[in-house]
Order: sequence, then structure tokens, then C-alpha cells
Amino acid sequence: MADSNLFYISLVLLPLFLLFFLFLITRPRPIQIPIKKRHIFITGGSSGIGLALAHRAASEGARVSILSRSIDKLEEAKNAIRQSTGIDVAIFAADVRDFEAVQRAVDEAGPIDFLVVNQGVFVAQELEEQKLEEVRFIIDVNLTGSFNMIKAALPGMKRSRKDRGPGSIALMSSQAGQVGIYGYTAYSASKFGLRGLAEALQQEVIGDNIHVSLVFPPDTETPGLTEENKRKPQLTSIIAASSGAMKADEVAKKALDGIKSGSFTIPCNSEGFLLAIATAGLSPQRSYLMAFVEVVAAGLLRIAALCFQWNWYGSIEKWHMKKTELRSSWCLKQAGIFLM
Ligand SMILES: NC(=O)c1ccc[n+]([C@@H]2O[C@H](COP(=O)([O-])OP(=O)(O)OC[C@H]3O[C@@H](n4cnc5c(N)ncnc54)[C@H](OP(=O)(O)O)[C@@H]3O)[C@@H](O)[C@H]2O)c1
Repeated sequence: MADSNLFYISLVLLPLFLLFFLFLITRPRPIQIPIKKRHIFITGGSSGIGLALAHRAASEGARVSILSRSIDKLEEAKNAIRQSTGIDVAIFAADVRDFEAVQRAVDEAGPIDFLVVNQGVFVAQELEEQKLEEVRFIIDVNLTGSFNMIKAALPGMKRSRKDRGPGSIALMSSQAGQVGIYGYTAYSASKFGLRGLAEALQQEVIGDNIHVSLVFPPDTETPGLTEENKRKPQLTSIIAASSGAMKADEVAKKALDGIKSGSFTIPCNSEGFLLAIATAGLSPQRSYLMAFVEVVAAGLLRIAALCFQWNWYGSIEKWHMKKTELRSSWCLKQAGIFLM
């Protein structure tokens, strides 16, 4: 009887003790970053997720600047935002691969409170088929371009930060930046790279009251996704099959809410929430409640992850078997024609 009482007491006390322990150790500490009347600078802000973010930030009272390459798309975005919110955003035409051009845009835009590094290109193709120039292009825009943006904006973001309140740097990753998927060797490498950049950067800028976020959208209905789908390998579609793409505005809302609450990892839907817990690793966590969920769910989610891998490798095996069968029946047919 005494033993069973002790068992029940420890069943209650252990989680409470774990919660208290996590409350003491989770770092960085929780924060709220106000957006009203503050300057948000969004790269890739003329289309898709970036444009939806610009709309949302403007309607929440932020001063918005957007940057991308095409001036026509920027003008179009500016007009669309003015029509729906009555607010004028500042536009900057520059390629993130060109550091000098990016620096000029940042200097002209003035001190930044929120930097959202969102530009991105995505082309799914097997590495063997993909040209090296395309691999370089993806890495240059998604990863090196992000370094260029942050290097250009950081000195101004740090300056007089004490008087201006907390700042934020958010990087637009992808679920392909949490797990490698067939056909995404270059894209996944560029997005996994952002995670390393973000984890190290957070440690470097926390002393300046700047808070780093990584957003992990799933498939999202944007012009970029429409383009990507034209060339996607069939196996990529089979493996990455999801319940459907999110709307750009839904992703923008999740992203902006997460950025304002200083979350390091920002998933956008329930699948992304589970993926974030499964891939938490050594990433920072502000919420002791989320840390509790991560600790308790870790083992189970590893089993779920292994089930996914089992399913994916099964699809790849079937695909290769089907290809071999097709090839041998084609050879047999050719041999028949030849013998006749
Ligand atoms: N849509 C999805 O399914 C999805 C899923 C996960 C993650 N993401 C990520 O979300 C971000 C936005 O994607 P999206 O779907 O909204 O793409 P999108 O509709 O194609 O928009 C991309 C934006 O980036 C700009 N851009 C591209 N290359 C640039 C460069 N070299 N320099 C400056 N700006 C550049 C584009 O404008 P210009 O072409 O005029 O430069 C455009 O404004 C990307 O980082 C992407 O990887 C998207």
C-alpha cells in the first residue's frame, strides 16, 4: 500500500519537478517584440510569403520596406499593399547576391528593427541531373544571400538598440531544412545551412537584445511553388506528399506571431509542430512548457521518424523495381522486333 502511494506521488511530483527544472534552465528568456511603428525590412517581399508578410506587418502598423530584384514586381506589390491597407511601403531593387547593392539599400532604408530574410529559390531535381550552376545559384541566393543581408543590416540594427527596444532577425527556412527529401539536395543544403547560421548568430547577438527566429513553412501556395511544381521529380512528390499547401497569408500570420514572441523555431502547421519537436536537437527554447513537451515526446517522435523513413525508403525501392521492370520489358520488345 505504502509502495503504491509512493508510486502515485512520484507520478505527480516528477513532472512538476521536471517543469520547475526546465523553467530554471531554458534560455534565452521569453520576450515580446513590439511591431507597431517599428521598421520591418523584408527580402523577397514582392511575392508569395514575403508579400503576405509585408501586407500583415503594414496592417499591424509597422513601417515596411521590401527588397527583391524586379522593380516591376516591387511596384506591383507596393500598389497592392497601398490598395488593401492605405499604407505606402518603401521598395528596394537589389539582388541579395550583390553585397554592395544590398548595403546601399539597407543604408537608404534606415535603421531596421525587424529583418526578415525571406528571399529564396527552389528547384527540385536529383543531384545527378541538376547542373552545378543551378546548385550554386540555389546556395548563393538562399544561403550566401542571407549572409549578405545580415552582414549589411547588423551594424545598424545593433546601433542604439538600448533606446529602440528589442530587435529581430528572422530567416525563412523550410520543412526541407529540417529533413532531407529526395530531389532536394541543393535546396535542403541551403536551408539546413540557415539553421547553423541562426543557432550561432543567436548566441552572438543576444547581448545586443536581438532575437533570432527560423521559420519552417510547409508547401505554400505562391508563384514560387507553382514554378517548382513544373519540374518536380515524381518521387519527390510521392515522398513529400502532404495534406495540401497552406495559404501564403496563413504562413505569414504564423511567422509574424512567432517573430513577435521571439520564438527561435517557428512551425506553421500541426505537422510542422511535430517536426519541430522531433528535430529540436540543441536549438534554443524560450518556453519551458515547450521544452517539457520536447523532453517527454522525444522517444515517441523518434519512433514516428523511423516509421517515416521506412515508408520513404519503401517508396524508393518500389520506384526502382518499377523502373527496372519497365526497362526489361522494353528490351524484350526491342529484341522481339529485331528477331522478326
Ligand atoms: N512556397 C513554398 O512552398 C515554400 C515552402 C517552404 C519554404 N519556402 C521559402 O519561403 C521563401 C519565400 O518563398 P515563396 O514561395 O514566397 O517564393 P516566391 O513567390 O518565388 O517569392 C520569392 C521572392 O524572393 C525574391 N528573390 C528571388 N531571388 C532573389 C534574389 N537573388 N535577390 C533578391 N530577391 C530575390 C523574388 O523576387 P525577384 O524574383 O523579383 O527577385 C520574390 O520576391 C523562400 O525562402 C522559400 O524557400 C517556400
